[in-house]
Amino acid sequence: MCVAIKIENVNKSFGETVVLSNVNIEFEKGKVHGLIGRNGSGKTMLMKCICGFVPLSSGQIMINGKTLKKDFDMPKDIGVIIETPGFLPSYNAYKNLKFLADIQSKISKQEIYDSISRVGLDPKSKKHVGKYSLGMRQRLGLAQAIMEDPDILILDEPMNGLDKDGVADMRNYLLDLKASGKTILIASHSAEDIDVLCDTVHEMDKGVLTTIRSGKE
Ligand SMILES: Nc1ncnc2c1ncn2[C@@H]1O[C@H](COP(=O)(O)OP(=O)(O)OP(=O)(O)O)[C@@H](O)[C@H]1O
Ligand SMILES: [Mg+2]
Repeated sequence: MCVAIKIENVNKSFGETVVLSNVNIEFEKGKVHGLIGRNGSGKTMLMKCICGFVPLSSGQIMINGKTLKKDFDMPKDIGVIIETPGFLPSYNAYKNLKFLADIQSKISKQEIYDSISRVGLDPKSKKHVGKYSLGMRQRLGLAQAIMEDPDILILDEPMNGLDKDGVADMRNYLLDLKASGKTILIASHSAEDIDVLCDTVHEMDKGVLTTIRSGKE
């Protein structure tokens, strides 16, 4: 098995509060991995750790064979939606993504346009993102996550705030991304989304991660 993300003996505490407790898991490349569990169980925290946003108390995380904080500071080939994506409210969709794309300066105007179109938004719209609905912001969040064509996507409740059609659209985008060989880690409270999308399923309970479906049975 080719491993995209390897998590080894990861612990995370804030003072006395243990948020992640000895997490050990390997996420296989090219598969969709579901993360379920109650509110406050540690799903978002695990994702933040994988993205290098918060330091670990102990343990290590390897992404495509390289160790986080040792071989690199922030993993490069990762697209992320964590919690409700934040954008600059007085810019339109294109300007928001352009602003973020300029940090890496890897992609063209056309590629930004294409990612905005791909999630069902209008790249030429002048509407400021501050006037977007929650679902529109969520779609733009996905556009941002995919615009640099990363191998790995970390998606924390990407269906949040989407209506029925929005959920169906988002599922189809994610199935397309899966078909194109991306590795996806997705947290969701929807059993149906997990069922439709995921090859493996893991449950977080008070910081302890247990594999519910390994994808090998
Ligand atoms: N900066 C912080 N300082 C202290 N505790 C924190 C911090 N960030 C998160 N926590 C705690 O870590 C625990 C796990 O939170 P996390 O956001 O990972 O839960 P979750 O599983 O994503 O929940 P939800 O389903 O509601 O999104 C919670 O008890 C939370 O209060
Ligand atoms: Mg969460």
